[in-house]
Amino acid sequence: MKEMLHCTKLLASFSEICKAHLVIDDGKELSFSTQSEPNDSHFIQSLRRFSADILDGNSFKWKSQGHYNLYGRPLKVPDAQTVALVAYSDRRTALTNCSNIVRMRNSLAAIAELIENWQFAQQESEQLTEQLGESFEAIALYSRITPQIMAFTFSESTLRTLMEDLFEAMGVDLIFTSIPSREGYSLFVRREDASSVDADPQGFIENLIDAISADTPSLEEQHFVVQNSRSVPNYEKLHPEAFRFLVTAIEHQSVPYGWLGMVSFSTDKIFRYSELRMAATVAKQLAITLSNNDLYIELQLLVINVVRSLVHAIEAKDVYTKGHSERVSRYCSRIAEKLCLSKEEKNSLLWASILHDIGKIGIPERVLTKPGKLSAEEFGWIKLHPEKGYDILKPIEPLAKSLGGILYHHERLDGKGYPSGLRGGEIPLQARIIAVADTFDAMTSDRPYRPKITAKEALAVMDEVAGTQLDAELVRAFTTIADGTEKLEDDGGLFEKLEGIHSR
Ligand SMILES: [Fe+2]
Repeated sequence: MKEMLHCTKLLASFSEICKAHLVIDDGKELSFSTQSEPNDSHFIQSLRRFSADILDGNSFKWKSQGHYNLYGRPLKVPDAQTVALVAYSDRRTALTNCSNIVRMRNSLAAIAELIENWQFAQQESEQLTEQLGESFEAIALYSRITPQIMAFTFSESTLRTLMEDLFEAMGVDLIFTSIPSREGYSLFVRREDASSVDADPQGFIENLIDAISADTPSLEEQHFVVQNSRSVPNYEKLHPEAFRFLVTAIEHQSVPYGWLGMVSFSTDKIFRYSELRMAATVAKQLAITLSNNDLYIELQLLVINVVRSLVHAIEAKDVYTKGHSERVSRYCSRIAEKLCLSKEEKNSLLWASILHDIGKIGIPERVLTKPGKLSAEEFGWIKLHPEKGYDILKPIEPLAKSLGGILYHHERLDGKGYPSGLRGGEIPLQARIIAVADTFDAMTSDRPYRPKITAKEALAVMDEVAGTQLDAELVRAFTTIADGTEKLEDDGGLFEKLEGIHSR
C-alpha cells in the first residue's frame, strides 16, 4: 500500500477531471484523492463494503448510498495484487443516469490503465536502478582488483588485499581462498563482530572444502551454491547454526588451483546470480594470474640460465676472466645501493653488468689470451666487443634498457674511449658505473699480460684517472665501499641468488 500513496497526487488530478472523489482500497486501508476525508463513519463502512463487492466480482459496479453515487472497478497493482478503485460524487450536484454511468465506467477504466502502467513503470525503474547499483558495485570492484590480479608481482599480500575488497563488496561473514599448492595463498577474511563465525574458521573452511570435494561429481560450471545448510545433510553437520555458502573453483586450462568461497549466516537472504558471477569472475582471473605467474617465473629462470650459459661461454674462451662478470655485477649493485637507484634502474644495471663483455664471444681466442702487448690490429679486435655485445643482445626486448651500459662501458669522460668517443654526461650513468667496477676488477685480477695489484693500489690509480677516464663522483662512491668500511667479498653465487629471487 505504501506504493499506492505515491498515487495520491495522480488521484487528485483525475478527481479534478472527472468531478468525483477517488479512493483506492487494498482491503486493509484507504487512499483518498483529497486531503479531507469524509468524517461519516457510516459512509466509510459502506464504501469498504462496496470495495469488497468489486473485488469479489472483479468487475465494474455502481450504487447509490445516502447522498452519494458510488462507482468502482478492480485495479491491478504489482506483485499480482488487485485493489478497488472507487469514485464517489454527491447526487445533489451530479446527475444519475445511464450516460453518466457509462461515462464513469469509461473514465475509471482509463484511470485504472494509466495507474497500472505508471506503477509497472515505477517498478521496472526501481528494478533497473537496483541492477544498475549492482553493476556499479561490480565495476567498482573490478576496477579495484584488476590492477592487482594483472600484476606479475602478484603475492600473498596482494591476494589478501583482493580478498578484503571482495569481502567488503559482498557483505558476507567469511570469505576464503584455498590454494594448497601455494604457500601462504590459503587465507580467509572474517567479520570480527560476527559471533556465528566459528572459533576455528580454518577448521570450518577445511571441513567445508572436504564436503564440497565429495560433491564434486555434481559440480556444474565449477561453482557450488547452497542457500541453507539445513536443507543439505552433508553441510548441516558442519556448523550448529544454519549458513549459506557460495564456492567457485580457481581453475584455468583444466589446471585446478583451489577454491574461492564465501559464507553468510544470514539465511533470510540468498546469494544472487550477480554475486555468483562476481565470485566466478574473480576466481577465473585469479587462476589466470597464477598461471601467468608460473609462466613468468619459468621465463625468468630461462633468461637467467641463458645468461649463465653466455657468461660461461666467454669465460671458457678466456680463463683469466673467470668470475669477472659476476664480480663486476656485484660491485655495480653496491654502487647502485649507494646511489639509491630505483628498482628498475638496479635491474637494468644488473643485466648490463653481467653481460657487459658478452661481445668477446666474437673476438679470436688468441687475441683474448695473448700474454704480451697487443698489436694495433689486435687491439682493434678488442675494441669491437661493446658493439658486438650490443648486436647480440639487441633482439632481446627485456634487455633493451641494459644495452646502453653494454655499448658504452669503455667510453671515457675525456672522450678518448670507444666505440663512440662520448664525453662526460653523454655517457649513460649505467655505463659509467660499469666502467668503475670493470676497471677495479681488471686491476685486482691476474691477466695474461700483467699480475694483479692490491685493492688499495687499484683505488689509488682510479683516483688519478677520476674526472678524465672515470666519473669522479662514482669513483668516490666506490672508494667508500671498497676502502674496507664495507665488505666487497663474494657473499654467494649471483645466479643462485637470482634463481632464488625469481622462483618465489
Ligand atoms: Fe669490456
